[in-house]
Amino acid sequence: MGRIIGFTNQKGGVGKTTSAVNLAVSLAVSEAKTLLIDMDPQANATTGLSELTHPSSFTIYDALIRGHNLDEAISETQFENFHVVASTHDLVGAEVELVGVMAREYQLEKILEKARHTYDYILIDCPPSLGLLTINTLTAADSLIIPIQCEYYALEGLGQLLNTVRLVQKHLNTDLEIEGVLLTMYDKRLNLSKQVAEEVRDYFGDKLFKTLIHRNVRLGEAPSFGKPALLYDANSVGAQDYIQLAEEIIERGN
Ligand SMILES: Nc1ncnc2c1ncn2[C@@H]1O[C@H](COP(=O)(O)OP(=O)(O)OP(=O)(O)O)[C@@H](O)[C@H]1O
Ligand SMILES: [Mg+2]
Repeated sequence: MGRIIGFTNQKGGVGKTTSAVNLAVSLAVSEAKTLLIDMDPQANATTGLSELTHPSSFTIYDALIRGHNLDEAISETQFENFHVVASTHDLVGAEVELVGVMAREYQLEKILEKARHTYDYILIDCPPSLGLLTINTLTAADSLIIPIQCEYYALEGLGQLLNTVRLVQKHLNTDLEIEGVLLTMYDKRLNLSKQVAEEVRDYFGDKLFKTLIHRNVRLGEAPSFGKPALLYDANSVGAQDYIQLAEEIIERGN
């Protein structure tokens, strides 16, 4: 049975999408059958992979709201092991439309029932909010990766996120775990990066991934070419960091 991992942090721009996209591709090239679901109306993961896919006519919105089968929304990519479910701006409406749906927090879990038997990993990229799209992800997921940017105010808002996780564990998904906290945009020349890393290590202990994601220009450039870093510049520090993260996750045997 596959492992469903959500990328969550309601803080914007911390590296959720970059991490979801590049980890997904790294897992796929490590021969794990991987599905990436874009749950963000900004659709950054979708556009960041546009060179790799022939988009399906349907998106996550059609599966969540219009009752389409998830299979209809799955697009193949040039990697045999890597499939994508795209998002569109329509998904903004889903936050509101879900409110009136029975068992509204469980819609994503319901549509993933079959897929979790098909894939080794299902990664879900969340929007920067704690609204219903994120709550659906927390309810469907086995675990969460929380990216934290090595910047001022890195820990701001984490209390609220962890509180939401606890509420979901209590009421919606008792098995939800924190897969790990991931430091992103780490710059070893900056004391600030080291300070943030230390602070996060003190707070999260062994929940912090050993792998650090360095600040790397290639990671920022790759999405504008519609490619993951591994296809844009396989030897870049950024591409290699995500390969290492995939190895760390696979080695845990999850
Ligand atoms: N390690 C990195 N090195 C350099 N640039 C990065 C790195 N990680 C992410 N970026 C860039 O930082 C910006 C924010 O990253 P990203 O889009 O992954 O964050 P996000 O948390 O998904 O944002 P949002 O909350 O808006 O969804 C993007 O322009 C991305 O290309
Ligand atoms: Mg994003």
